[in-house]
Amino acid sequence: MTEKAAKKYVHAQWSSRWVFILAATGSAVGLGNVWKFPYTTGVYGGGAFVLIYLLCVAAIGIPIMMAEVMLGRRGRQSPINTMRKLARAEGASPLWGYLGWLGVLSGFLILSYYSVIAGWTLAYFVRTATGVFSVPVAGGMTPDGVQAIFAQFVSNPEALLAWHTLFMILTVVVVARGVQSGLEKAVRWLMPALFILLLVLVGYAMNTDGFAQAMEFLFRPDFSKITAPGVLSAMGQAFFSLSLGMGAIMIYGSYLPSNASIAGTSVTIAAADTLVALLAGIAIFPIVFANGLEPAAGPSLIFQTLPLAFGKMAGGDFFGALFFLLLVFAAWTSAISLIEPVVAWMAENHGLTRVMATAVAGTITWVLGIVTILSFNHWKFSFSFFGDVKENGMFDVLDILTANIMLPVGGIFIAIFAGWIMKRRHSEEEMAIRTPGGYDLWWFLVRFVSPVLMIFVLLHLLGLF
Ligand code: PHE
Repeated sequence: MTEKAAKKYVHAQWSSRWVFILAATGSAVGLGNVWKFPYTTGVYGGGAFVLIYLLCVAAIGIPIMMAEVMLGRRGRQSPINTMRKLARAEGASPLWGYLGWLGVLSGFLILSYYSVIAGWTLAYFVRTATGVFSVPVAGGMTPDGVQAIFAQFVSNPEALLAWHTLFMILTVVVVARGVQSGLEKAVRWLMPALFILLLVLVGYAMNTDGFAQAMEFLFRPDFSKITAPGVLSAMGQAFFSLSLGMGAIMIYGSYLPSNASIAGTSVTIAAADTLVALLAGIAIFPIVFANGLEPAAGPSLIFQTLPLAFGKMAGGDFFGALFFLLLVFAAWTSAISLIEPVVAWMAENHGLTRVMATAVAGTITWVLGIVTILSFNHWKFSFSFFGDVKENGMFDVLDILTANIMLPVGGIFIAIFAGWIMKRRHSEEEMAIRTPGGYDLWWFLVRFVSPVLMIFVLLHLLGLF
């Protein structure tokens, strides 16, 4: 593609600031909130993990999100080219382009397993819709029955592959057509609908006898349960859930109109994302405790708890199917943002058409997904990660590597670039924060607080602090 054509391509913009908020929220809200947040909270013992996660969102997530949007809008290209261009403009090394590369790699790896889990969600949509969980006994299924169904499901790689394939096709089709047109329409209705359905579930959960115990589990921190890998996971969860550290938010920022407020939109997105995660936790843990289930069940947690609730609820088949369907949509809008930086870069630099670029990126991710599929059956193995036992082999390796290491490392470099490399007047001009002291606060956070915290957490894990 010629430079001029590339310019035209990336200069496409969201039709308003509101659409950017929807799209970025669509990226942020996904399996990370409804599937990953509850299960990692369960694994790391509840309240203390939740508190550290919230602190990470506030002290690291929001400043880094503002930085990413700001860099994206100033560069107006795919993350790799944006970083190269901005580094040139600041007289810094072209090596900063590698930050974009790190993001592209993270995007591939994350999407490869994300799509497999989204496939589980698709399968559970079909199962709930066809009444699988409400059939056997009046009053729904037993916990053992639901567990057996899940265990049987993941032991079948062909089935997992079929669902993964279907989800990848869905993703690739939207991305090939161009993110703006497809996404704008999808997020407008689906995000609010998912939110309302979560409230319905919370309403149900409040009436189970596990509610008080769940609130205590989630909101009374017990720091004796928290370990170094737990702190790392809480920080990784903040990055993963907010879609930070790999260029997804950066590229969405590149489509943001110049007059939109970066600070206001970032805070709105982070707040919405965090609210959805907390609601998911409040919906799921009462079901866990009311049925005597194991909070630390791992990635299977929501697939073993929610069907129980839907099995018992009036209209449960309907609500259950709708819930899993909306979760598929939420995962879909996130998956799109995972692959978009790669596709934009291939189209800008390699003269590929958007459709070709999407096909290539989609195929690579699809093949990588097989690693995750086999992690739950034939290749299953366990290992110890700084004293934590992980049971799902390569899936856990990928998860730790991407969410807990690559995204925070990307975040450290984004903070260093925005706070130390970029001239203050440039970031000040691009952010255009009107609230007095607002810019200074961001500058202080992104320069000192966020990078120091991130480096501290990573070194703490290695036992160096
Ligand atoms: N934030 C998404 C979720 O919570 C996942 C994601 C991570 C999307 C990184 C883009 C980039 O499900």
